[in-house]
Amino acid sequence: MRTEQPQTIRLTDYRQPDYLIDETHLTFELFEDHALVHSRLLMRVNGGQGALPPLVLHGQELTLQSLAFDEQPLAVGDYQVDAHSLTVQPLTKSFELVITTRIEPQNNTALEGLYKSGGMFCTQCEAEGFRKITYYLDRPDVMSRFTTTVMADRGAYPVLLSNGNLIASGEHEGGRHWATWEDPFPKPAYLFALVAGDLYRIDDSFTTMSGREVELRIYVEPENREQCAHAMDSLKRAMRWDEQMYGREYDLDIFMVVAVNDFNMGAMENKGLNIFNSSCVLAHPNTATDMAFQRVESVVAHEYFHNWSGNRVTCRDWFQLSLKEGFTVFRDSEFSADMNSRTVKRIEDVSFLRANQFAEDAGPMAHPVRPESYMEISNFYTLTIYEKGAEVVRMLHTLLGAEGFRKGSDLYFERHDGQAVTCDDFICAMEDTNGVDLTQFKRWYSQAGTPQLEIEGHYDAATSSFHLHCRQSCPPTPGQTQKLPFVIPLRMALLDANGQELPLYLAGQTQSLGTETVLAVTEAEQVFVFEQVSAAPLPSLLRGFSAPVKLAYPYSRDDRVFLAQHVDQRLLKVYRGVLADSSLDPAMVAEILRLPSEAYLIELAQQADVEAIHKVREWVRRELASALADSFRAVFQRLEEAGGSYSASAEAMARRSLRNTVLGYLMLTDSSDTLLACVRQFVEADNMTDRQAALIALVQSPHEQEKQAALEEFAQRWSAYPLVMDQWFSIQASNPLPGGLERVQALMTHPAFNIRNPNKVRALIGAFANHNLVNFHRTDGAGYRFLADRIIELNQLNPQIASRMLTPLTHWRRFDTQRQALMKTELARIMACEALSDDVYEVVSKSLN
Ligand code: BES
Ligand code: ZN
Repeated sequence: MRTEQPQTIRLTDYRQPDYLIDETHLTFELFEDHALVHSRLLMRVNGGQGALPPLVLHGQELTLQSLAFDEQPLAVGDYQVDAHSLTVQPLTKSFELVITTRIEPQNNTALEGLYKSGGMFCTQCEAEGFRKITYYLDRPDVMSRFTTTVMADRGAYPVLLSNGNLIASGEHEGGRHWATWEDPFPKPAYLFALVAGDLYRIDDSFTTMSGREVELRIYVEPENREQCAHAMDSLKRAMRWDEQMYGREYDLDIFMVVAVNDFNMGAMENKGLNIFNSSCVLAHPNTATDMAFQRVESVVAHEYFHNWSGNRVTCRDWFQLSLKEGFTVFRDSEFSADMNSRTVKRIEDVSFLRANQFAEDAGPMAHPVRPESYMEISNFYTLTIYEKGAEVVRMLHTLLGAEGFRKGSDLYFERHDGQAVTCDDFICAMEDTNGVDLTQFKRWYSQAGTPQLEIEGHYDAATSSFHLHCRQSCPPTPGQTQKLPFVIPLRMALLDANGQELPLYLAGQTQSLGTETVLAVTEAEQVFVFEQVSAAPLPSLLRGFSAPVKLAYPYSRDDRVFLAQHVDQRLLKVYRGVLADSSLDPAMVAEILRLPSEAYLIELAQQADVEAIHKVREWVRRELASALADSFRAVFQRLEEAGGSYSASAEAMARRSLRNTVLGYLMLTDSSDTLLACVRQFVEADNMTDRQAALIALVQSPHEQEKQAALEEFAQRWSAYPLVMDQWFSIQASNPLPGGLERVQALMTHPAFNIRNPNKVRALIGAFANHNLVNFHRTDGAGYRFLADRIIELNQLNPQIASRMLTPLTHWRRFDTQRQALMKTELARIMACEALSDDVYEVVSKSLN
């Protein structure tokens, strides 16, 4: 067990920096066994009269080689260095500091700071990775103008990149060369980036709304050059969309995207030089599924949108992370909704939030959208910061209306351009433009937990009025036992017996609100009275999921009896109707046919019975499959005829989505025709979406021979494509048939698996623990033991990934006492390890509390 605890950082301890850095001049000398980083900082004290405070620079895992103050080299006694910092005493209010550090990128397996991915040097600095490159004020409220020179061997690293514009380059003796980049926009160190490698470049350009020409470049390893078109198109669409929807134009003359294979996250918004996990850039119909295409589109857009919501206006401190991430997720989800089907996108986002963020909110790591404390900031890139944060911004949009929201965002960008600000500043801009008081609304930022909204409706025939009784509450979360009422926007309508929306008259208001309105539920208990309602209506509540809450609308006893007796037949009738109606959006139909995920059903339960949930869900799927087999076959046929050859259009994607959903159902029936069709689809598909859907159906089927043949053929054919092999791992790791753990253990030794590559870890270990619940939750605890062993291994190599892999174990409270005990045993075993990283320590210790 580690002896000392990591420090807890608190929002209430925030203080302005003592010093500022006006200019940062960096020179990197890159070699195979080390790198030298020369840094020249032009600094000054931040305000303040009187004695100059000591200057404390952040730094980790650095070897300090030299240090000079205003050209005077410092001797060893003139400064102090410890594992996290370098302290010196300035003698003048402004000064120049020159530092040389030595680092070893080739040994950096944590993938934070400067590291090597394959034959390429690259960086990842958010949140606190810059301090692993050089000593610096590594905090987002210190913004500086950067100039960066990169020097490396020309043969191995012909491409040398950093933020901003290329201003000079040249040759050195011995086959080395250099390039100097200058970024005119002041930025925090977390937005710094550097890349050196042998990369192929795809060029394009974009003319901004004011007529400026921007060069667009995507850099990839040469073998991937055919897989960039979709990312480039997505980028141009995102640039146009941000101009049209937010009036925001790109600011530099060049925008670069680099794809790397080893990356902890999806992508990073470094100024002018976004660095991407190759899984979020590369997409070709032969190798990527429709889902992967959509992911690329949204990640490219997300990182691009950060140029305004994150870079031009950044965060004052990391407690404000949702200021940029929540807002930017809202922006990218609206973009995706505009590019694809809005309804389907919303259903996907809401399903994801309810299955995963709700679980986080109910677990030991629950925290507010603006957390109050953390040990390791990397642990706070959470679903709460991202997805709930985006829902909070969406609620503002709902309450203020599209126009009010846009005016607010205009003021926010103008008022704070070039600044590092807080969530309060964002809200304040919304308040000032709209003349509203959002004090109570801000509880969404400070209170954790998922609010529960219970609603009952009562019709009073005597007065022709309908009473909507709303009661809200929020369960306790770590450190927060009592909660105050939230502002809950409740989008609603009243339906008559024919499903027609009724005009809404709120008591006391003579004018109709139209047929749909947004009520603001602001009190613990509140009643809304609708008048002029001529018969008992059916309320349609929380439309579009207008707030991230759990809605309970108690059915009457009669309703329940009716539902219990008739739900099957009624559901089948609905499904038959939906399947027969060829005028409906196929993607929407596919969504309707999708049953709630096991993860969501577990989240709903107080105490989840994993096996029962799996069995019942599978049983329902089989029942649907056999009862609807004829409809399914007809749809499968109809969509095949309409299909023709591959197209990447939204319509074609929607058709594939429905057809493959239907194939999944049909494969649950015992039909040799379907098996043949499935094998044929696997062999003949002209795109990865169809091929993969067939492979999944085969893998989850009992047809051993066909399954093994398909898996082998697939692995042979795609062995040179790491992203396709990730899919191959993930499909097998998610297979719920018995023996899942053994299959995963065997795959760990497959030559394509590599525990140092985060994509591989997610594809095999992550998929098993998160998407193969019956196997992971085996009653003998072997699934838990396996995961804990991998976490202990990863703790040494890559603490961020190790910590992320912990999530399934942190949810132990949801399960029976036997499983709880087994899960806690594994958490305790991890806790007992020597040299536990801060990342893993924080999550494990909080989970065991
Ligand atoms: N700024 C983040 C990337 C990041 C996260 C860097 C955590 C360091 C630590 C980036 O903008 C981001 O949010 N990326 C997401 C994808 C996005 C579409 C939500 C990611 O990487 O998962
Ligand atoms: Zn982001």
